[in-house]
Amino acid sequence: MLIKLPKASDCHESDVTPESFYLSRRSLLGGALAGVAASSLPRWASADEASRYADVEAGRAPSWFAEKLPGTKWQAVTVKDEAITPFKDATHYNNFYEFGTGKGDPATNAGSLKTEPWSVVIDGEVAKPGRYALEDFMNPYQLEERIYRLRCVEAWSMVIPWIGFPISALLKQVEPTSKAKYIRFETLQDPKSMPGQRSSFGLIDWPYIEGLRLDEAMNPLAILAVGMYGRELPNQNGAPLRLVVPWKYGFKSVKSIVRISLVSEQPKTTWQSIAADEYGFYANVNPTVDHPRWTQARERRLPSGLFSPNVRETQMFNGYSDEVASLYTDLDLRKNY
Ligand code: MTE
Repeated sequence: MLIKLPKASDCHESDVTPESFYLSRRSLLGGALAGVAASSLPRWASADEASRYADVEAGRAPSWFAEKLPGTKWQAVTVKDEAITPFKDATHYNNFYEFGTGKGDPATNAGSLKTEPWSVVIDGEVAKPGRYALEDFMNPYQLEERIYRLRCVEAWSMVIPWIGFPISALLKQVEPTSKAKYIRFETLQDPKSMPGQRSSFGLIDWPYIEGLRLDEAMNPLAILAVGMYGRELPNQNGAPLRLVVPWKYGFKSVKSIVRISLVSEQPKTTWQSIAADEYGFYANVNPTVDHPRWTQARERRLPSGLFSPNVRETQMFNGYSDEVASLYTDLDLRKNY
């Protein structure tokens, strides 16, 4: 982004995160339940799920979410042998410029975002356009938990357990016409509740826009998320509805979506419009194509600190090559970064 290189001072999460939160997959799946009294479990949870998210702050889930949650397909996709990022880090180290440019600003300021009622417009090249109340929009979909790596273009990363549903299921519902080649997503524009849209930081031409090629959106890994860590999305993470495309840099994962349009031309996306030589439309995670101002070969896995930077090699397509490399066989990924 037009953002400084990460500084050591950005990295103190590990100092405040209890070690008990460093959950490995083994302990998630294993006998970590001993001692969790059945009566202390949330109403929706099986013992397994509750133990995994015992330290997560409760939210105020809308009733449609609470009703759907028990039917969630847990761990529909997961990562092997990589710890889930502590909830505290995933919710206090954010990029959501509508609420400020500091990593802590979204957690501090996003309480002003009103996520109920919420509606989503579907328009453009579809047989079934419309404006849907979120609870109606969500009605057809079964929730799935997808534990994915998230790699930001700024070279930090996390592992986040999302709850959502595949975009392919939405496309089946709305029936794109033969002219639809891309899908465009738009964030809420509401300067009253979004201080970043009122500020003199004038780089972004609001609303925040992102897009995918239709075949990318059809890939089973691409989801729309409504929750994380076994609960609804916190505002700072893009409540009530955000995109998650784990093989792409995080800036593609547009938050607080109000409009989804099927279009025939490649949409003009926010960061590409600001600095096309730094942020491309594709934004596939690629350790062999550096950002003009820093390497993309490595990443800091949060939590990371001055004395334990937790640096790891970045993987091609963020480790999802088997699932997505075939989408790009005809594309020069150096030109189409
Ligand atoms: N969506 C909107 N509307 N505004 C933003 O500033 N930032 C993006 C993306 N989605 C952003 C956004 C960037 S740069 C990243 S890395 C991810 O959100 C961060 O998601 P997280 O804060 O949930 O980790």
